[in-house]
Amino acid sequence: MKKVIIDCDPGHDDALAILLAAGHLDVLGITTVGGNQTLEKVTNNTLKILECAELTHIPVARGMGEPLMAPRIDTSDIHGPDVHGTTGLDGPELPEPDISIIASHGVDFIVDTVMSTNDVTLIPTGPLTNVASALRREPRIKDRLAGISLMGGNLAIGNVTATAEFNIYVDPLAAHIVFSSGVPVKMCGINLTRQVMATDVEIGRIRSLNNRVGTFVADLLDFYVGSIKRLYGLPGGALHDPCAVVPLINPQMIQFEPMRVAIERYGEHTTGMTVCDYRHLQDSGNADFRTIARRKGAPPYTDVGLKINRDRFFDLLIETLATYP
Ligand code: RIB
Ligand code: CA
Repeated sequence: MKKVIIDCDPGHDDALAILLAAGHLDVLGITTVGGNQTLEKVTNNTLKILECAELTHIPVARGMGEPLMAPRIDTSDIHGPDVHGTTGLDGPELPEPDISIIASHGVDFIVDTVMSTNDVTLIPTGPLTNVASALRREPRIKDRLAGISLMGGNLAIGNVTATAEFNIYVDPLAAHIVFSSGVPVKMCGINLTRQVMATDVEIGRIRSLNNRVGTFVADLLDFYVGSIKRLYGLPGGALHDPCAVVPLINPQMIQFEPMRVAIERYGEHTTGMTVCDYRHLQDSGNADFRTIARRKGAPPYTDVGLKINRDRFFDLLIETLATYP
């Protein structure tokens, strides 16, 4: 099985990413980062998720609570209580966890694990503060990592602002460090993840599994989808984070295209934007981009997700949830 570390901010969709990954991959550990809620809350949520799914063998290390560089505008309420609730995992009633985090800091856990284990892939599903800090702390991990498959960014419109997606927006400098590192990056942006919107139909399929984890996830999605319906009038809630896990399980399920992706860090209206260069995808674009992008020494390019098979995604997710207690 592929060896991965999940870096997350649970978060309803982060919980689904953890459950999907643990059902198919060798999850060496989970590191937590401030994002959807405070570091304390997302860390506690992570422990609750693992206990509910009987995944308590997976170590959890608490990472960075604040971004390397917060956007210029007021981010005091950057945590996502609107969508994920005051706990960050509102909906299901879960007991306080008996398990606890390990002593290592999340950034040290990433560095130590990658330096001692070959072919590890990082799966960040929150702001990139931990991953960027690990790359800065120990640059040698760049050559040891198999890759980074992340949820974040956008091909065009944003969600937290008109031009930026939440995970990138919270820490644009961290995102710049990761995207320019040279480590192979697969980007599952909201242009892709919005193609897998969970509606009452999928929630019904999950609840009918009649197992503890299925009921937990159905309760999660009732709250999450309810938030999205109330706030945005949409028919369902996009399952952003589990998309970043899919390429490690079934690469054929997502169509990726190589692009240069730059992170806007200083724009008055565009801070946190993933500026994706896809001129080669236009009719009169520079068709030989692919050869240029892969030329030795060329600035790194990112594999940007464009299309995901929705039916196969939900079948994979629900089949995986059925394997839990
Ligand atoms: O923009 C979507 C991302 O922001 C997801 O990772 C979600 O969990 C939130 O963190
Ligand atoms: Ca997340």
